[in-house]
Amino acid sequence: MKLCITGANSSVGQNLLNHLSQNNDVQITAGVRSERAFGDLPKADNITPITITYDDEASLQTAMQGADCVIHLAGILIETKHSNYASANVAATAAVVSAAKAQAVQHIIFISVIGASPRAKNAYFRSKGSAEEIVTKSGIASTVLRTPILLGPGTAGASSLVGAAKGPTSKVLGGGLYTMRPLDTDDLSAALLKLSLNSAKETRTLELVGPEPIKYRDLIKRTAKLMGSEVEVGVVPVWVAKLGSAITSTLKGGGITPTVIDVITSDEAVDRNADQELGIELTPIDGTLNKILKSE
Ligand SMILES: NC(=O)c1ccc[n+]([C@@H]2O[C@H](COP(=O)([O-])OP(=O)(O)OC[C@H]3O[C@@H](n4cnc5c(N)ncnc54)[C@H](OP(=O)(O)O)[C@@H]3O)[C@@H](O)[C@H]2O)c1
Repeated sequence: MKLCITGANSSVGQNLLNHLSQNNDVQITAGVRSERAFGDLPKADNITPITITYDDEASLQTAMQGADCVIHLAGILIETKHSNYASANVAATAAVVSAAKAQAVQHIIFISVIGASPRAKNAYFRSKGSAEEIVTKSGIASTVLRTPILLGPGTAGASSLVGAAKGPTSKVLGGGLYTMRPLDTDDLSAALLKLSLNSAKETRTLELVGPEPIKYRDLIKRTAKLMGSEVEVGVVPVWVAKLGSAITSTLKGGGITPTVIDVITSDEAVDRNADQELGIELTPIDGTLNKILKSE
């Protein structure tokens, strides 16, 4: 079995490679955008780092040669001067799909987000929805896995959470009254392993979220408690944050924007969690938080 992973240096990619590095029945080509990123990848006999350029299809095809399955992880929430939703989320996905077709790849797995839709008002959700359509209409058997905020050592979500929990007071967007379904990155890797190591005949979209709905303010307090402290959670009014972010992101050409704030503060809800269908056991939130705190 051979897998090709794009965005292999992402936090999800690094976690997944750590899981895969134990499995010598699988050969993995780990695609990243520059040789500098090779250093971020776990070293193992079955992992071959390779540079890919999304506007050079030949480089993508080389990475996918002989691959049974492509796991497309590259993608962003926070735009920068050099990377925006159109390039990172949509064009990169189109390039990956085109190369996968040319290399007769049998299965594409794409990580999307809860709330993705090509018709969404929010530009991030819209870009992920458009990318989903590119994948699901590719003619290749595909699995779209929509996920909520991901938590685990090394994730962006974990560093904001621990920062907020350090207290004694912490002001967060809207007082953290929105509901999240945080998913442990180890659970996501377990799901990706199951999906990628089994052949796929059809195209499907699954939503995989963590075991417990929790308001962000309660998640902060729970993290503080596990740290042996207490934190008072205050409010940054969402409209104030949006106004400030509109100005700074325009000046900086990226960063936190009103679009990102809408994503962060939207409730994460699903009709049906795919954990049972995938046969994975979800880590309780405290288990995830303890792993994060141990790694600090
Ligand atoms: N983290 C979450 O809470 C969360 C939630 C839902 C869905 N997801 C999705 O899960 C996937 C992995 O997320 P993550 O948080 O692990 O990612 P991450 O650590 O932020 O890494 C982002 C990856 O995307 C690549 N990238 C950035 N701009 C690009 C461009 N213009 N073209 C191609 N690649 C580009 C980066 O490469 P460089 O290092 O070269 O810039 C890196 O490999 C993403 O698709 C993300 O949208 C994440």
